Order: sequence, then structure tokens, then C-alpha cells
Amino acid sequence: MCGIVGYLGQRRAYDVLIQGLHRLEYRGYDSSGVAMINASGDLNIYKSKGKVEALEHFTQSKDLDGCIGIAHTRWATHGEPNDINAHPHVSQSQMLALVHNGTIENYNVLKEALTLHGYKFVSETDTEVVVQLIDYIMQTNGCSLFDAVREATRQIVGAYAIAVIDKSKPDEIIAARQSSPLVIGVGENNEYFLASDATPIIEYTNKVVYLNDGEVAIINHQTGLHIFDAHNTDESEIHITELKMSIDELEKGGYPHFMLKEIFEQPRTLADCISGRISSDAKSVVLSGVIENREKFINAQRIIIVACGTSWHAALIGKHLIEDFCRIPVVVEYASEFRYSNPVVNKGDVLIALSQSGETADTLAALELAKSQGAFVFGICNVIGSSIPRATHSGCYIHVGPEIGVASTKAFTGQVTVLAMLALLVGQMRGKVSEETLETVATDLRRVPTLIQDIFDRLNGKIEDLAKIFTYAHNFLYLGRGYNYPSALEGALKLKEISYIHAEGYPAAEMKHGTIALIDVDMPSVVIAIKDKVYEKTVSNIQQVKARGGKVVAIVTEGDEVVSALADHVLEIPAIVEPLTPLLTAIPLQLLAYYIAVNKGRNVDQPRNLAKSVTVE
Ligand code: M6R
Repeated sequence: MCGIVGYLGQRRAYDVLIQGLHRLEYRGYDSSGVAMINASGDLNIYKSKGKVEALEHFTQSKDLDGCIGIAHTRWATHGEPNDINAHPHVSQSQMLALVHNGTIENYNVLKEALTLHGYKFVSETDTEVVVQLIDYIMQTNGCSLFDAVREATRQIVGAYAIAVIDKSKPDEIIAARQSSPLVIGVGENNEYFLASDATPIIEYTNKVVYLNDGEVAIINHQTGLHIFDAHNTDESEIHITELKMSIDELEKGGYPHFMLKEIFEQPRTLADCISGRISSDAKSVVLSGVIENREKFINAQRIIIVACGTSWHAALIGKHLIEDFCRIPVVVEYASEFRYSNPVVNKGDVLIALSQSGETADTLAALELAKSQGAFVFGICNVIGSSIPRATHSGCYIHVGPEIGVASTKAFTGQVTVLAMLALLVGQMRGKVSEETLETVATDLRRVPTLIQDIFDRLNGKIEDLAKIFTYAHNFLYLGRGYNYPSALEGALKLKEISYIHAEGYPAAEMKHGTIALIDVDMPSVVIAIKDKVYEKTVSNIQQVKARGGKVVAIVTEGDEVVSALADHVLEIPAIVEPLTPLLTAIPLQLLAYYIAVNKGRNVDQPRNLAKSVTVE
């Protein structure tokens, strides 16, 4: 969590930093701050509780000069969100300013030791320990900032991406990373950008360098960029990656919220995701990461999928897809549980790490654990060059473009789409999927973008109206079965995270084992009742809800008359092969959550207490 930005060059650093903070605000918005060194050598630090806008307001009449600076947007872990705990943190000598993303696990021990050496701490953060430690090392060893940072990284335990500036060296930023992302943008004439992801950099340069774990970088306006291993004197080779991301993808494009833009982008994003991967005759699927590791998938004894949040819901759909098409047993684990559960991982296991951001700390740790135990590790991610794709043996991207809204929408459907293609391909390799089945499912997969557009055309206005009826409900139940039980979980999560209405996703048939006691006239149920193999059973479940006076919003297959007669409100989606139905049922669920949240006046793109990328435990 938290976003870091840095700049060194010829422009006014403040402008680059503020724009960068806006781009990274999705990573945390409890407080923000900037530190710049001006031409007279003053180190100016400005911090403010709340969003970046508050910082801009606060800095209006301040000295904002200087061509070097670092900045931070915070998602609080240690210490409440306030001005004092906001980054950048300054050293006791008043010479250094530092920003940090991550958590320092041994900060208490270090704090005690530094206190004995006369250091006084003003904040409650773990970060302040790092800047004081670097300061202490510089004072006692008389060494450079670079050497001190390198020494400090040997003493701190935890996850960090840090950027530090020294008032006495106004042409240099030192950066280091361990388990938290850091990207360096390389401009012309020794102009450099630094950020937690590439979004603040892309409008200036498409040339980036991804810092690796255990590396420390010197970014110097005269001598350029040099990267070293923190544990020895080896200089690393610099690999420049050219990004294809465009600035338009990072803007709202006329929509009131990123979330709505991203929902409506899905016909295009899924077309991009499928593009070049399903042949025009729909007879073959190509995922090079899978094909290159054919034997691993063919011989897999078991597939384990680790993920969190929405990605975990997509993983549950992936389990159905892989078990149906490949006949390989699949277990889906919360990454946070898996990593601490002493899991049994065998050499023949394939572990899939599923993550939009590619930075989720628990998912990254879970895959490292499985890798260390001999599993073949495959990543399915969205953010190109992020930590998970770089830690896995192989993988494939979902290619849905930057997802800025905290609530995941287009990434969810992208993940399900990739999992469907993977299941078809591996199933075919294992001889479990006939040519006919592959063609039928792949043909329907190619139709998904058009079918989603059809849902928008017919249902968007209707769902907006429906949302008005349910805006003031205090609780919601989301029910689904089979492929759409995870869809119910996802629908409930979408509503919870952006509207703050309590919602529970449940397997429809399980309801009668307890949850049914909650149903009354004030507790609406959203039921996914499409024509699948358990359709009749779901109809019975709806009857059980209706018999208790519950209101039912049903998502049904176009032309359904049975549920339409039973439910209070009906949303029709086009027919498609059952394994792909979650791609369509997701759409009305996303829109319903969105409009209810808007009606409640919520901050849809940046809901309270949340951040897009969860890089802490
Ligand atoms: O980047 P990831 O897919 O690993 O993120 C996992 C979750 O943090 C994420 O899906 C979260 O649940 C979303 N806010 C849900 O909309």
C-alpha cells in the first residue's frame, strides 16, 4: 500500500510529484506529502492529512521551488492518519527526507536502539525508524547517503520501497526495494522519475527500469542511474523496458468515475484479452506461457490457485473451469491463509498466482513458498512488469489495461476469460476437451464482448432505476449456484466495498441451513437464476425467499418466464454456454453496486479504508 513518487531533472519537481500522487492515490489516500530541495539548498517538507487535494490546498502559498523531490500518498498501517504520521519523514539532523511503502517488522527493536543513541521520534510510524537509522549510520560512519542506505537495508526486516534525499546533495535520490514495487523512469538529459508503478511516469517517458528486490539505486543528475546489490559491491546491469501504456488509459475519458469507465470498457478489454489467443475459426487457443510449459500442465497432479479478494472469486470460477475441462483437481486458497498454513506442496503441483496488480503481498509470499517447495508457479496478472509476473516461472497477462477504480471490475472478467482459455487449452492438451467442445466454448468466448455491449444497451438504465429502490437497504443477500456461486460472492463484495452496505454472498441451496432466518421484507436478495444445470433448484430457492416475504432481484436468461413470474425485478442476460455465464452475470452486479453507491454519495473510486494494491500483510 502507499504510493511513492520521486523526481530529479530540470522541471519544477512539485508539479511532477503532485500529478504523480494523483495517479497513485488509488494506493492509499489517508495523507500525502512532498519534500523538495530548492536552489538555495532548503529542504521544504509539506504534509497533509487526507487526499492529495488537501495537500495542494495546503501548499498554495508555500515555496515550491526545486528540481528534486520525493512524495508519498499513504494508506495507514502504523499510526493513525494525521499530519505527523504522514510521509516524508525527516531525520533528526534535519538533513534527510524519506518516503516508504511497506512495513518494517523489526522497527521496535531498531527504535529502542536508536533511542539509546539519543534519537527522539515524533511519529508513530515504522518509517521514521528507517530515516533515523540512515541518519545514525551516516553520522557514526561518516559515510555517504548511498552507503548508509545500503547498510540500513541490511538491518531492516520487512517490506519496503524507499526513496531518500539529502539536503547536502541536491542532485541525488537514493532508492531501495525489498518486496514493494519501485519503477524508475529514464528521461532525456539525466532526467529521472521514480514511482510505485509506471502510471506517474508514462506521461514523461516510456522507458522504465524495474528495481529488483535487494537492489539500491543511485539516481544522480550528473552521473546518471546506477543500481547495486545491497549485499555486495556488484553493480547490476540496467535493463530498460519500453512501456506501451498510453496516457488516455489513465484518464476518466468523460465518465464520472473510473469504475464506471472500467465497467463500460469491458467489451473492448475482453476483446483485447482474447485477441490473438483464439484462432479465427475458434478451433484452437494459444497461450504461449502454457504452451511453453506443456508438460507441466499435462502432468499436473493438482492445481492450486492462490489469490485475494475479487481475484479469489475469479479463482473459484477457475476451479470449475479447470476441473470441468481438464479433469485436474483444483484447490483455491486465500493467499494469506495458504502462506501460513504449512501447506502440502508437491513437485507435480502447479500453483497459479492470480492478481490484478501483481503486487499483493500475500499472493507474492504464497507463490514464493510454493516455489521453494518445488511447485511450478504460473502467474495471471494485469500490471505488466509487476512483482508477481517477475517472481513466477511463467504466466500470462490479462491485458485489460490499467484498472484505477479500487473496486475491481474489468480485471475480474479478464481473469475469468484467461482462466477459461487456459482450461480449454490444457484440457485439449490432456485429451479431455473434444474439438467440438473447444470450438463451441471458444466461439461463445469470442461473442462475450458483443453480449456485454448488449447488456449495457438494454439494462444500464433499468439498473440505474432499480438502484434507487434499494439504496436505503441495510443488508443484502446474493445467491448463486455452481459457476455463479462465486459471482454471488463477487456481487456482494462489490456492493460492500463501495456502498458500505452489508451484503453476504451465499450458495443458494445453503441458505436454508441458517441464513434463511435473516430474510424478511427489508432484506433484498439478488439471485443469479440463469438457465444452467441447477436452474430448477434455484427456482425453488427463490420460492423459499418469496415465502418469507423477501424481495428478489433475479438475473435470468433472456426469455425466462418462470423466474420472471416469481421475482420482484428481473434482469435478463443473453444465453451463453454455462462455463462462461459468470462473464455476463458480473455486469449487472457491477452496475447495481455502482449506482447504489453513487446514490449514497460514496466515493466510488476510493472507498474508505481501502487501497487498490495491498502490498502489506
Ligand atoms: O491486485 P489483486 O488482484 O491481487 O488484489 C486482490 C484484492 O485486493 C482485490 O481484488 C480487492 O478485493 C478489490 N478491491 C476488490 O474489488
